[in-house]
Amino acid sequence: MDKHLLILSTSFWYNPHVFNFFGFGQKTYLGIDIGTASIKIAELSKEKGRPKLENYAILESYKFLDVLTDDSAMTNRSRRVFGGEATEMIKRLIGKANIAVKETNMAVPIFSSFLTVMDLPMMNETELAQAVQFEARKYVPVSLEQLVIDWNLIGQTPPTANDQGHLQVLLVAIPRELIDEYVDTARNTGLAVSAIELETVSATRALMGSDPTPTVILDVGARDTTISIVDQGFLRISHSIETSSEDLTRVLSKALNISLRRAEELKRERGVAVIREESEVASVILPLLDIISSSIQQIIDLHHSKTQRKIEKLIMYGGAANMPGLAEYFSKKLKIDITYANPFSRIIYPQKLEPIIKKIGSELAIALGLALRDMQ
Ligand SMILES: Nc1ncnc2c1ncn2[C@@H]1O[C@H](COP(=O)(O)OP(=O)(O)OP(=O)(O)O)[C@@H](O)[C@H]1O
Ligand SMILES: [Mg+2]
Repeated sequence: MDKHLLILSTSFWYNPHVFNFFGFGQKTYLGIDIGTASIKIAELSKEKGRPKLENYAILESYKFLDVLTDDSAMTNRSRRVFGGEATEMIKRLIGKANIAVKETNMAVPIFSSFLTVMDLPMMNETELAQAVQFEARKYVPVSLEQLVIDWNLIGQTPPTANDQGHLQVLLVAIPRELIDEYVDTARNTGLAVSAIELETVSATRALMGSDPTPTVILDVGARDTTISIVDQGFLRISHSIETSSEDLTRVLSKALNISLRRAEELKRERGVAVIREESEVASVILPLLDIISSSIQQIIDLHHSKTQRKIEKLIMYGGAANMPGLAEYFSKKLKIDITYANPFSRIIYPQKLEPIIKKIGSELAIALGLALRDMQ
């Protein structure tokens, strides 16, 4: 089988990687993750029941930096899918990577969606289906008509002498409008959408498998930082804050009076070390990092107060998880073991990709989780 590593290069897009096998005819599974600063695609097939990498593509853009300079765009924090350019970019990537499959799974960010665990009295399955629809109204702050709802029974507390027992139901609600936007984007690229789910649901599938350990999974993206708790194999809390990687670039650029592009490079090269090297940077960067670490601590505390379970580790993914020194910084602050996500741990891939997967593998967590969705 032929193997190729193609590098796209245009003035505008940077760091693009496309890998493809030119596989023939076998059934494959596609996941597309559209972020603010990047698009990631993963295609998997099955080999003796195990998922095998067929293609991946990552395309990052400096273009989102333009948005940072445009104050009105920043205040409005428009969520338009990749500024309306996603269609063109996905088409190009799919063409370059020779992806033939016509269906994909897609993920939406937790921002503007809802995820909560509902506690309901013990009941049978038919009653539960009705109760969820009814109870959801109490948990979701907008009209259910505007939302698509999904739920999953994730635990139960057995009845005792004084208690009839309880069910824990994970409720996810995504705005219809958002779903339509993703379906349209896919349709315009010639793809049908098989499923849409929350990004953190996809990441949980790729990163946790059936690991029951109480874990924080942390996505440090361009625009949002998403903090989630996975416990006993299920996602339980997912919360996003707007302090994120692009804010670090912005304050760095202001503090040092350098261009956003230079600040972006400096952030990637030197990471947290710039704080020590440039004292004027510490006073602007540290408060941002502390907003993120204290939000993580709050979520850990919230989970502990609800379940009395202690979080044992934190897994980082998303582009800025690669920022030099960030894991060490959070680990010290939060006194917790931090590891980089390895969504390839259960996936077969060619040996020659080992170095690149070590470097950028964690960025494919959501796309791989999406592709894995229909394989299990
Ligand atoms: N080596 C690195 N060091 C520091 N930051 C990095 C590094 N590599 C990428 N980043 C940052 O990661 C961010 C992009 O991450 P990612 O691709 O996860 O975002 P996204 O999914 O497009 O955005 P979002 O999820 O917020 O919509 C950018 O802000 C970029 O500056
Ligand atoms: Mg993202």
